[in-house]
Amino acid sequence: MKSKASAPGKVILFGEHFVVYGIKTILCAINKRITVTAENIDEEKISIKSNIGDLVLEPNKPISEIDSPLKPFYYLANKMLQTQNQTKGIKIIVESDIPLGVGLGSSSACCVAGAAAISRLFTETSKEEILELAIEAEKTIFQNTSGADCTVCTYGGIIEYDKKNGFTKIKSEPNFHLIIANSNIKHSTESVVTGVKQFKEKNETKFSQLCNDESKLVEDVLKLLKDNNIKELGQKIIQNQKYLETIGVSNEKLRDMIQVGQKSSFGAKITGAGGGGCIFALTDESNFEHSINQFKDKKYECFSVKIDFKGLDTF
Ligand code: PMV
Repeated sequence: MKSKASAPGKVILFGEHFVVYGIKTILCAINKRITVTAENIDEEKISIKSNIGDLVLEPNKPISEIDSPLKPFYYLANKMLQTQNQTKGIKIIVESDIPLGVGLGSSSACCVAGAAAISRLFTETSKEEILELAIEAEKTIFQNTSGADCTVCTYGGIIEYDKKNGFTKIKSEPNFHLIIANSNIKHSTESVVTGVKQFKEKNETKFSQLCNDESKLVEDVLKLLKDNNIKELGQKIIQNQKYLETIGVSNEKLRDMIQVGQKSSFGAKITGAGGGGCIFALTDESNFEHSINQFKDKKYECFSVKIDFKGLDTF
């Protein structure tokens, strides 16, 4: 028996970092995907093949003893073998068109597509159950995950999230193109988040004002999304980037990429933790070609994405 599933990556449109302090964030799924194929095998093994390497292990190893970015797949396969009282094994193949480790949701997409492909080898599973499994699997590599990334990868579209109220799907389906430019600087979300905490501790009043400003900005954005007002959304992106600059998560390369984006599109900002990773620029048909050519002229690694409204797909 074989089972296949794919899930999209994501970008954070607004509110990264401030979300840690209770402010609302807005994320969307993007049309770059990870596809996972799972197959029952007769050997007593869990075997995972991917473009970042392979992992082959016997079942029932303690998860804490596994040191591999492919650990979530092992966790999922082992859990399913245990709960279904199976003594045989599972082979997993991962194919990705999402760049890894740059804040585009590759690990969440792996967990969602992995949870779907592996669980469906044994039983029909609802999207809600798959999401729950995916968040459990993601916790094996990022204990403090909010679950926001896995949620948007499962359901697709745009979601708002805050710590107190959880997730709400945003109904609007805007038709913009995002240009993503990759700094190719690997970042550690954890250390950038720690840096922001230190900034906050040294600048309590200023930080609290920034949280208020960001909160107001996100509320404005929710209205603009409903109206599909792309020009004004661009202005909000530029404003949000100023807040991210103030809390110290930008650097020279990111600033240069953002400048290219802000001159040629409706607005550009960091997406995710910053310190490296990616930025995005907001465009539509009127300025897309011009803007992406500006990034290409400057030899930045870039590509365009649209919002993915499908989310998890199973075959
Ligand atoms: O770069 P990413 O996708 O890991 O995003 C991190 C988002 C933060 O707000 C900086 C941290 C968090 O846990 O929300």
